[in-house]
Amino acid sequence: MTQLKWWQKAVFYQIYPRSFADGNGDGIGDFPGMIERLDYLQDLGIDAIWLSPHYPSPQYDCGYDVSDYLGIAPEYGTMADFRRFLDGAHQRGIRVILDMVLNHTSHEHPWFIESRSSRDNPKRDWYIWRDSRNGEPPNNWYSAFGGPAWEYDASTGQYYYHYFLKQQPDLNWRNPAVKEAMWKVVRFWLEQGVDGFRLDAIGAIFEDPAMPDHTAKMSQVELYRALRYAKSEEEWSMLLKEQEALYEHQVDQPETHELMRELRTLVEEYPDCVLVGEDDDISYYGDGRNELHLLFNFPLMRTNRLTPAWVRANQEARLSALPPGAWPCNTLGNHDTDRVYSHFSDGRNDAALARLSAALMLTLRGTPFLYYGEEIGMTDFLLRDVRQFRDMLGIITYQVETEILGTPPDEAVVYAARMGRDKCRTPMQWSNAPNAGFSPPGVQTWLPVNPNYAQGVNVADELAHPDSLLNFYRRLLRVRRQTPALISGDYVPLHEEAQDYLAFLRRSPGDHQICLVVLNMSAQSHALTFDLPMSTAHVLFSSRSRENAADDLTHLFIAPFEVYIAEIT
Ligand code: NOJ
Repeated sequence: MTQLKWWQKAVFYQIYPRSFADGNGDGIGDFPGMIERLDYLQDLGIDAIWLSPHYPSPQYDCGYDVSDYLGIAPEYGTMADFRRFLDGAHQRGIRVILDMVLNHTSHEHPWFIESRSSRDNPKRDWYIWRDSRNGEPPNNWYSAFGGPAWEYDASTGQYYYHYFLKQQPDLNWRNPAVKEAMWKVVRFWLEQGVDGFRLDAIGAIFEDPAMPDHTAKMSQVELYRALRYAKSEEEWSMLLKEQEALYEHQVDQPETHELMRELRTLVEEYPDCVLVGEDDDISYYGDGRNELHLLFNFPLMRTNRLTPAWVRANQEARLSALPPGAWPCNTLGNHDTDRVYSHFSDGRNDAALARLSAALMLTLRGTPFLYYGEEIGMTDFLLRDVRQFRDMLGIITYQVETEILGTPPDEAVVYAARMGRDKCRTPMQWSNAPNAGFSPPGVQTWLPVNPNYAQGVNVADELAHPDSLLNFYRRLLRVRRQTPALISGDYVPLHEEAQDYLAFLRRSPGDHQICLVVLNMSAQSHALTFDLPMSTAHVLFSSRSRENAADDLTHLFIAPFEVYIAEIT
């Protein structure tokens, strides 16, 4: 275990700064608020924080449109506050990684303001400008957020390229000056003492330089409509493939690997820094040592039901594809997805399924990433008034629905709330007090608070209840930390035909410790026989009260939805 790097042992916790804790009572999360909650995080038992963007930003994309990479958003605090936060985390043994948005800046970034000021401005080529094609945009590419990927700039008579919103112009990474400027940013934060970066949208950094038209058969709107009415997960996956064709020339260009290698070399000047790519493409691990340290296993969450068969297939595909030396990384939710509790629920066994999701994250091989509020079972909160929407994706969806598809507004808002991301970004629920204790009473929070804080979904109430989800996470995080096999062990699936439960071993190198994990994902109990060289198991964790500390593995009784972790002796 000692040879492992800190980020191989760590459990990460993603903080969305706007929504975590409001220290100054203005309805928006901030650094003073985060500082006050560091003790909570330490007690929870996480090891590292991934901080979503904390930079100044006009907030067209909730901070992923950065207007100053070297600053702190004034609503979040000052550089001194940031320092106190970083030092406070480090004093508690918690590492901090930042979100680094390389692909694009805000349209309000001084670089872009200069770039668009005239065709001969020295920064013109820092972004991607092209002439029109017969009075039309330069090609038929789309923005991933909807509509054309090109925005016309009347004052200079050219179009600029944006893979995301038009307020997020893409940088031209083929210009060495851009690289130099961005590497300065990276060094600046490393000099501040941060422990690494989560790299936003790396797949979109380069585009095909020839800029050929895409040859997809369906238009973006046709695809949208088809996805909207897809009847099965199979149809949905097939359409997602079609969607890939739409962006075929805009992502995953070979030069990205070269760039990631360069960045890796840079960060290796700073001991122990980690790079986590917002991508699931295993090729960004490079040879296992020369590109990114971690890439998210996003395919695991691309289902509505985490069945044993699904998880086994995912693990088999993922783990066998990793290059030697590469380390897996699992997550079930973040600020772009459904909340874990809502996503994998079935409407009947939600509380049990949330525990199984947590157990899966904390027992599979690899570094787990948790999302704030997941530990108390925060759920998606669907806004019913489009005026409350903050996420442009939700707003754009509403517009497409009402203006193009002719969906009645009340129906459109329901769908847009589901497709938008405000649902999973609502303020953290700290207590059963007005505003869930996030902001003082009477303050209007930046997004409405999910009213279920008053039904026990909050930190204070859950801390007081031994059987709460929060205490389940706390216990499990402790067991993980104390159990080397759960951190360093390999993954050996058992009972691979089982439909109801997932069983696997984690064996630490040299078999110093072997753990058996059984996650019963069904309402059926099971009497299991494991044909292993050792037949006794010492229970480390169970979601049920177990009478015996030791179990006979030839007759192991597993209760409905039980999470069972034992050391084999
Ligand atoms: C990925 C981020 O996670 C998402 O929130 C953002 O909208 C896009 N990248 C664009 O930066």
